Amino acid sequence: MTAQPDFQTASTTRRGFLQWLLGFSVVSTFAGMLAPVIGYLLPPQRQNLGSSDPIMVGAVADFAVGTGKVVSVNDKPVIVVNTSTGGIKAFSAICTHLGCVVNWNGKKNVIQSPCHDGLFNPVTGAVVGGPPPRPLPAYELTIKDGKVYVGKPQGKLYGA
Ligand code: FES
Repeated sequence: MTAQPDFQTASTTRRGFLQWLLGFSVVSTFAGMLAPVIGYLLPPQRQNLGSSDPIMVGAVADFAVGTGKVVSVNDKPVIVVNTSTGGIKAFSAICTHLGCVVNWNGKKNVIQSPCHDGLFNPVTGAVVGGPPPRPLPAYELTIKDGKVYVGKPQGKLYGA
């Protein structure tokens, strides 16, 4: 006499596995839906937000001569430029005309506002073209151990 397969046990095991899988799917779905809500309600602490301590924005090598890059300092855009005549400087990246974020124009060697073609001198922040009424405020900048640190703004920021 041959042994008969135990269909009852196999069916129960399969059913149990499917119930576990369904439960896991439901829990995973709710966790996936709740995670963004919890992330919105409890935003992560940002380091140095609102602090006056200088913020390290990169290594000196990250700012080659003839380039400029917008970085975030205390949640404000700051443009760090390196020119052959002025060295590494930092200015508010908020255009003094209507508040667009400026960027580096390497062809013209100027800081440029993309909105109305406002142009700024990358050594002084002075307006050299377009409608901006004031220069870009400079930021304190220090270089220590090959790293670039940006501190406080030296003038009134746009909208402040
Ligand atoms: S916002 Fe920069 S030129 Fe108008």
